[in-house]
Amino acid sequence: MTWDARQQAMLEAMGYKLWAAPEPAVAEPEAAPAPREVPREVPREIPREAAREASRAPVQIAQALAPVMPQRGGVPSAAGSAARPEIATLDWKQLQESVAGCRACGLCEGRKQTVFGVGNEQAHWMIVGEAPGEQEDRQGEPFVGTAGQLLDSMLRAIRLTRQEAAPAQQVFIANTLKCRPPRNRNPEPDELAACQPYLERQIELVKPRIILALGRFAVQALLGSNEAIGRLRGKVHSYQGIPVIVSYHPAYLLRNLGDKARAWEDLCLAMSTLQAQAVPS
Ligand code: URA
Repeated sequence: MTWDARQQAMLEAMGYKLWAAPEPAVAEPEAAPAPREVPREVPREIPREAAREASRAPVQIAQALAPVMPQRGGVPSAAGSAARPEIATLDWKQLQESVAGCRACGLCEGRKQTVFGVGNEQAHWMIVGEAPGEQEDRQGEPFVGTAGQLLDSMLRAIRLTRQEAAPAQQVFIANTLKCRPPRNRNPEPDELAACQPYLERQIELVKPRIILALGRFAVQALLGSNEAIGRLRGKVHSYQGIPVIVSYHPAYLLRNLGDKARAWEDLCLAMSTLQAQAVPS
């Protein structure tokens, strides 16, 4: 497999320097059976095993695309949309107002402001993260700290943005929680359950064609699963019929640079999944 210009841009944006392997590329002696294609350019910093996996990505993507596994979404709690049914009837503006005035859990006491989300209300891509941190609480926008910078780079590499653009390019970014947990601690189950109807309604109104679930709390909210990200990624899941791709949270990637290669595969899978949906005109 060769990295095309777009893939190279993506890898570079994710912090990988590319180098051109000497021609002809030589397969490792122990590699058996011989790979169908030997990568001509491999990101220097990707560990050998990850590079091997990346070269198999098209096969994995094809396998992963086969079944869109139907799964129940949502935090398994009585306090989801069933407990706050009025939220499911709100339009976008009413939803924003409801979030801004929400006092459904204790997080309202410590917040500077709520963080509703940012991006295109008709976005094809929806990105779901965890919860606002200090910067997000201050600025009222998700993913504006260092994790957000990495997320923006990753999005830019696949020609997506949070800035003003058409629905195919401008994503919508939301979190499972709309308020900052104190000292950035993990969300509590009651907080997730109280906030869940907001996320559900956002998804219902945006109607994304694909959802990228970043980190375990997004996965819990959308898939109702507590499985490790490593076991869930690489497959196409489903929330209310919308394909969901599971990937690592950018804050985790900042601490675990070796997993950036896997995050790249996850973005490839998301792109392929979206392309596979495209209706020929
Ligand atoms: N991490 C998240 O999950 N969301 C944010 O908005 C910021 C950091």
